[in-house]
Amino acid sequence: MDILDPRINTYLEELASVDDEPVLLEMEKRAKDNGFPIIGRLCGQLLELLARSIGAKRIFEMGSGYGYSAYWFSRATGPDGEIHLTDTEPDNEKLALDYLGRAGLDGPIDYHVASAFEAFDATGGDFDIVYCDIDKDGYPEAWEKARGRVRVGGMFICDNMLWSGRVARGTEPPNEQRDAWGKIIDQTNRTIKKDPAFRSLIVPLRDGVIVALRTTKAGRDAEPRLFT
Ligand SMILES: C[S@@+](CC[C@H](N)C(=O)[O-])C[C@H]1O[C@@H](n2cnc3c(N)ncnc32)[C@H](O)[C@@H]1O
Repeated sequence: MDILDPRINTYLEELASVDDEPVLLEMEKRAKDNGFPIIGRLCGQLLELLARSIGAKRIFEMGSGYGYSAYWFSRATGPDGEIHLTDTEPDNEKLALDYLGRAGLDGPIDYHVASAFEAFDATGGDFDIVYCDIDKDGYPEAWEKARGRVRVGGMFICDNMLWSGRVARGTEPPNEQRDAWGKIIDQTNRTIKKDPAFRSLIVPLRDGVIVALRTTKAGRDAEPRLFT
């Protein structure tokens, strides 16, 4: 199902086309040609806006692909930021460094070819933003790892939280794997919503992006919350 009426989506994309830059268009063409799931223009602009709104400098991405989401974060942090990218696929690192280098946005980039969780554990300190876009069965663990390492006033942002509508029961024809991931995403949404240290909302652009703002230190050192 379309999350957003296609006519509204087209309207928003027309407005968003003010940012047409050659490298950005190349990255978007690669996604289209190869069916690679980038976060897309509207959500990319949302990432930049959110990062700018909190003066984000230190960002950790779980699941970076060839650097499309990092393109938008880098525009916000500037060259003196610190953006950790992660992906298990070495070719994605090469592509990302090429694209971001040619766009003049590689200043803050530190690319880890590794499991997002291993790289996260190995990288110390708190973050202004932890952004998650890995395989969806990893979402509960991503949240449990990230929630204690987002600074107060910082954000956990995660893509695909509406999962083509499959989080809402009965909206899509049955599909074993997609439905299984839909249930995991739904549980993750509900767990985030209940967390007393965060205020959150799913923005229904493209496939749904959750924005969870850390408002308090409460629960910081608490045991991870278990799913029921
Ligand atoms: C949806 S794509 C990322 C798109 C990127 N955030 C963007 O908007 O351009 C997901 C990427 O995460 C990688 N990935 C999936 N699970 C991962 C994990 N557990 N650790 C590291 N990378 C992972 C995949 O190889 C894939 O390139």
